[in-house]
Amino acid sequence: MMDRWSPVRETWLLLMLVSVFHTSSAVIATMRDLKRKDKLVEAAGDAYGKTLSLAVLDVCTDESVKQCINGIKDRHVDVLINNAGIGLVGPIESIPIDEMKKVFETNFFGVIRMIKEVMPDMKRRKGGHIIVVSSVMGLQGVVFNDVYAASKFAMEGFCECLAVQLLKFKVTMSMIEPGPVHTEFEAKMIQDVQQKEFPGADADTVNYFKNVYLPSSVDIFETLGQTPDDIARCVKKVIEASSPRFRNLTNPLYTPIVALKYADETGGLSVHAFYHMLFNLGPLMHVSMTAMKYLTCGCLRSRTISPN
Ligand SMILES: NC(=O)c1ccc[n+]([C@@H]2O[C@H](COP(=O)([O-])OP(=O)(O)OC[C@H]3O[C@@H](n4cnc5c(N)ncnc54)[C@H](OP(=O)(O)O)[C@@H]3O)[C@@H](O)[C@H]2O)c1
Repeated sequence: MMDRWSPVRETWLLLMLVSVFHTSSAVIATMRDLKRKDKLVEAAGDAYGKTLSLAVLDVCTDESVKQCINGIKDRHVDVLINNAGIGLVGPIESIPIDEMKKVFETNFFGVIRMIKEVMPDMKRRKGGHIIVVSSVMGLQGVVFNDVYAASKFAMEGFCECLAVQLLKFKVTMSMIEPGPVHTEFEAKMIQDVQQKEFPGADADTVNYFKNVYLPSSVDIFETLGQTPDDIARCVKKVIEASSPRFRNLTNPLYTPIVALKYADETGGLSVHAFYHMLFNLGPLMHVSMTAMKYLTCGCLRSRTISPN
């Protein structure tokens, strides 16, 4: 990658950055609080201060986004990777609307703020690549992830519209759609729900959430989870592709799940399949997931952006 500037988040992109540092002329990793830079600086090694620099960025404020982009030489960004995101899980009866709005403020409006800031220049230059880290939950809803999935669906819809216009300006748009990944995201989610009482939700719903959904979710993370390094390698592949794809599922095990909704336009198939997986197969989830993992054939892998 030559002459590319990419404001990125540190967590997932850490390892990708390390491998890109040596060939790229400039990478800017962004974070809300530079006091947390140590891990990134250590991983960057010699590249820090040469091909990698750091900048403060809070995607939830217009000023921070402007300041970050204004700090880049000529405001020139070739590749923008939108990775910042927060999760929210639990019965919606117990989640205040303000908390739901925070998810949209980060996962949806945060990305739009960044795109609005760099897109005009990319259009003028007739070049550039906008990458959005979405989720498999931007394509298929998952029970008790209602608001998080909605924020990623919103992002998918927004980008699907914009991608067509951007094509006219030779600007590329790519979505990265990971399944579960072992990052702080998962730990934050588990810690968060353990502390909560779920006021407003009835006892049955809380029981389904805590005793049916959560154990299955932990199982799925354990069995199917990818590493941040896997995702970083997928992002690197998308950046380096001669014709990058718009949609990029990173985990082949999720292709059948996403395919269900396209196989039945009434939506019944996916709703009922998820119902059975959760409420009937719950205790067998671990066994079925492990079997699925080993049975996944090459054709599914070829439909994803595989990290390998
Ligand atoms: N982990 C998964 O299973 C999974 C699966 C599919 C998709 N994703 C998506 O992957 C992306 C990265 O998530 P992750 O798994 O790496 O989670 P993570 O470890 O929690 O990292 C999320 C990052 O987003 C940053 N962030 C949050 N709000 C921000 C804001 N207002 N401005 C700037 N940065 C902000 C956080 O910074 P602070 O450190 O300052 O909080 C954190 O570094 C997210 O978009 C997420 O939706 C994750």
